[in-house]
Amino acid sequence: MKMIRMIIFILGLALFFSCNNQKEAYDAFYPGQEWKDDNGVHINAHGGGILFYNQTYFWYGQHMVEGRIGNTAQVGVHVYSSKDLYNWKDEGIALSVDSLDANSDIAMGCILERPKVIYNKKTKKFVMWFHLELKGQKYNAARSGVAVADNPTGPFVYVKSMRPNKGVWPINVQEFHKLPVSDTIKTNYCGGPDCLPGHVDSLNILGRDFEHGQMARDMNLFVDDDGKAYHLYSSEENSTLHIAELSDDYLTHSGRYARFFIHRYMEAPTILKTSKGKYYFIASDCTGWAPNAARSAVSDNIFDPWKELGNPSIGPDSLTTFNSQGTFNIPVQGKQDAFIFMADRWVPENPIDGRYIWLPIYFKGDKVRLQWKQKWDLSVFEEE
Ligand code: GAL
Repeated sequence: MKMIRMIIFILGLALFFSCNNQKEAYDAFYPGQEWKDDNGVHINAHGGGILFYNQTYFWYGQHMVEGRIGNTAQVGVHVYSSKDLYNWKDEGIALSVDSLDANSDIAMGCILERPKVIYNKKTKKFVMWFHLELKGQKYNAARSGVAVADNPTGPFVYVKSMRPNKGVWPINVQEFHKLPVSDTIKTNYCGGPDCLPGHVDSLNILGRDFEHGQMARDMNLFVDDDGKAYHLYSSEENSTLHIAELSDDYLTHSGRYARFFIHRYMEAPTILKTSKGKYYFIASDCTGWAPNAARSAVSDNIFDPWKELGNPSIGPDSLTTFNSQGTFNIPVQGKQDAFIFMADRWVPENPIDGRYIWLPIYFKGDKVRLQWKQKWDLSVFEEE
């Protein structure tokens, strides 16, 4: 009898623990709430982007740590995987910063932001690009870093960093850009929207940086239907966006690029393409970690002039993009023209606690619209 009771007790205990261990699966998005991975830990992939490969979504983002130091790269790029976009499995660190060599471009303590990964069908490589600022140089380096892996979860191997399009003029260069740049322009430009009348075209930042390559900060990647990939980055002291085609292996720039949104200080650039072949662009203004009103634009071709469409957000908190800043537009697989606006609610004093704001993108007439939702799921894309 005693034995039977003991067995029942042990079985009960086992059942209790197995039930308690069972992960509560998400079946909806809860923007701004803590978002737990399969280990019950808040997802740590800020300024992120999504790759869909082999029927699986991979979410790459900055691994942040506690405290102000977390705004610099102490660990690297974290990757998670998911089949349904709600539930994410921790796949570990995809790219590690270099903790041994203080002279490495990606030395621990550098700034490594907005990592994005694309898959190259020809080389069968996963290619990561990110905004890189060298250790101890604040935001002055304005470089782009590249890393490569054979598997979506890595390990990614750091390849190189550069200032894009060194010695190459954009396809929409203006003649004055090619005039000699004075030394004062070379050295005195302070940058930022407060430096008026600094950011007039006569300053010719493009010409200033021609020799050594163009500045590249907030960035994104986009692969078009024909397999051509593009690197979008805030350039010219953040004042002007560049869209640059990548080489066939995605490891460098092809040399074909153009300037857009001149002196509009577009940051956090994101892009999407609809089934009708229209390209939409959603970005932010330039106010550091503080949120601002997003901007949107449309174009028929990636290198055509873009038409601005204004703030895509509507309703309360539309002037702060619901207290967030965009980072990627996720194409939802298996649904036509279904995209999720993926944004960050930054917490610069404790960046590990940054929250994720994911909202459906609605198409209204020729415009894109974002609207706050406390809780939502993918069925919104079935509604009219
Ligand atoms: C934001 C930018 C972030 C980060 C931050 C630093 O404007 O989008 O990625 O660079 O500035 O202040």
